[in-house]
Amino acid sequence: MTETKSNAMWGGRFAAGPDAIMEAINASIDFDKRLARQDVEGSRAHAAMLAQQGILSTKDAEAIREGLLTVLSEIEAGEFKFSRALEDIHMNVEARLKEVIGAPAGRLHTGRSRNDQVATDFKLWVRDQLDAAEAGLRALMRALLAQAEAGADWVMPGFTHLQTAQPVTWGHHMMAYVEMFGRDLSRVRDARARMNESPLGAAALAGTSFPIDRHMTAEALGFDRPAANSLDAVSDRDFALEFLSTASITAMHLSRFAEELVIWSSAQFRFVTLSDRFSTGSSIMPQKKNPDAAELIRAKIGRIFGANVALMTVMKGLPLAYSKDMQEDKEQLFDAADNLMLALAAMEGMVRDMTANRAALAEAAGSGFSTATDLADWLVRALNLPFRDAHHITGSLVAMAEGKGVDLPDLSLEEMQSVHDAITDDVFTVLGVENSVASRTSYGGTAPVRVREQVARWKQDLRT
Ligand code: ARG
Repeated sequence: MTETKSNAMWGGRFAAGPDAIMEAINASIDFDKRLARQDVEGSRAHAAMLAQQGILSTKDAEAIREGLLTVLSEIEAGEFKFSRALEDIHMNVEARLKEVIGAPAGRLHTGRSRNDQVATDFKLWVRDQLDAAEAGLRALMRALLAQAEAGADWVMPGFTHLQTAQPVTWGHHMMAYVEMFGRDLSRVRDARARMNESPLGAAALAGTSFPIDRHMTAEALGFDRPAANSLDAVSDRDFALEFLSTASITAMHLSRFAEELVIWSSAQFRFVTLSDRFSTGSSIMPQKKNPDAAELIRAKIGRIFGANVALMTVMKGLPLAYSKDMQEDKEQLFDAADNLMLALAAMEGMVRDMTANRAALAEAAGSGFSTATDLADWLVRALNLPFRDAHHITGSLVAMAEGKGVDLPDLSLEEMQSVHDAITDDVFTVLGVENSVASRTSYGGTAPVRVREQVARWKQDLRT
């Protein structure tokens, strides 16, 4: 057993320091040093409040507030020596503060605990990530809008079961993702509004007997209000879970789009060309241009959703209030946040740079009997047939075309009439893909006029 001297921060009742293994499992400084800025911010707000409430002298509070800035600048300059023996960012900062300003540093922790301190720091960090996610989503949505606007009337096949279904427009397909990321945006905003209550001043769990002003610190840190229950305030990690769950949904959306880009950029599809800037080559096959960015984005959901499951599992069954289990809330969330932002930025770059191959899209749009539904609809409208009968007749016509190795518009009127004699020449007006998409003017439909309305609406929305 290795023995070190007892902890300088709380070692009063300890005769010996921790075993090396204890230190290794206990210390969080290797990862929670990412909370340095938030920790200093929270402590500065706390010190100012203590002074205003007469709990601390103005002189001490000023020394603390200045000293904290010095400590932060050391950390940000990479000059700070983090110590595992000091466990976490809170005690590393405080210990250094003592070296910098001396005795007054010992008064900073009046009326608070590491429990409300860490909840505050982490919340501030997660709040920044929600803001970064909002910015990333908005940038991606603007890139999609630019694609949608350019190709509002470009035809392409729409799929169900990844089988050709009906022609749609490129713009419509891009706007489907704008809707998805738009919901993500609203989830991010909801989460931010709900989480924006300050835990600071909840102290260890029960509040404090010092006459603190939690409204003052809440305001100083940009919170809407102090959290109303001290037990809840120190044991709540809903904000982290909401970030991870909304991040998971966004990552899921990103993975779906990434999958389409992988398929679309293949030689078999040729729907899009990804830019060199967002592709890689192969070390052995000279012809290859690989959609690695899309593949990696597709994969990011794994660690992001993993972090969500991990934290949900950590929190499950924890009694009130703080338990050390909760220290396991950070590492995976940091990783999830980093990777979400990276995935959003990479997707934005890919979308901005990619070229839709209009001719290949149009060619594919017309194949696979994609206007069969238009033909069935025509039979209903022009000949007043029940849709079920129209469906059956169209099926026979598709089978005939398939047998002849041609597409529907290539059948002659006589061939059509051999299946149903009331069919007229007028039917050919609905068999073209341009007509097909232009006819789908129902609200939310694929017609270019509807797509352009949605582009205009979202552009307006994103301005605010
Ligand atoms: N490093 C700890 C964490 O991240 C800080 C809170 C420690 N509180 C305590 N009572 N030991 O959760």
